Amino acid sequence: MNHGKPCIILGVTGGIAVYKAADLCSKLTHQGYDVHVVMTEHAIRLISERIFFTLSGNPVLTDLFSIPEGKPEHVRLAEIADLLVVAPCTANFIGKFANGIADDALTTTAITHRGAVLLAPAMNTNMWDAPALQANLATLRSRGIHFIGPEKGILACGTEGIGRMSEPADILKKIMEILP
Ligand SMILES: Cc1cc2nc3c(=O)[nH]c(=O)nc-3n(C[C@H](O)[C@H](O)[C@H](O)COP(=O)(O)O)c2cc1C
Repeated sequence: MNHGKPCIILGVTGGIAVYKAADLCSKLTHQGYDVHVVMTEHAIRLISERIFFTLSGNPVLTDLFSIPEGKPEHVRLAEIADLLVVAPCTANFIGKFANGIADDALTTTAITHRGAVLLAPAMNTNMWDAPALQANLATLRSRGIHFIGPEKGILACGTEGIGRMSEPADILKKIMEILP
């Protein structure tokens, strides 16, 4: 654990709500947290890692093999972080995390991290209601993983229902409740 300002890993996955993750990153940095962003390949297809590099002031981890020597970056980050927040959190990430799959920088960091975890799911209502997704959520809840949202409202696919990512201000509030 870090004994300076609290360290947060912000995991960003490939959901349309990535645009809100940039705002969350900015809010966390302004609040004084040491923010390290880890992005999935699908997230990078939706938004540039440069945004998070600029807003967090720290390099963005996207590739497990990007640091050629020394302690692997996902292990170093997982050890220093007080909290892992995944926002937006895809159905895919929930499935992998619930089942111990570690096949990219974010899922490998997540399984290595021993501190608190907060997930902010965002997805289409049918994805949210899928029995497989609900079973994976139950598994994660039973392990003490924290959740915020999703909220009801208009979704990017044009429908109305549950699936919107919680607002960054609300996620920040939840983080401040979880962190000492
Ligand atoms: C434009 C677009 C928007 C997407 N939005 C979401 C979303 O909001 N939630 C979700 O769970 N998946 C969404 N997906 C599907 C994910 O990108 C896909 O399941 C991917 O495998 C997720 O990978 P990741 O979890 O490693 O980022 C979207 C895909 C596209 C092309």
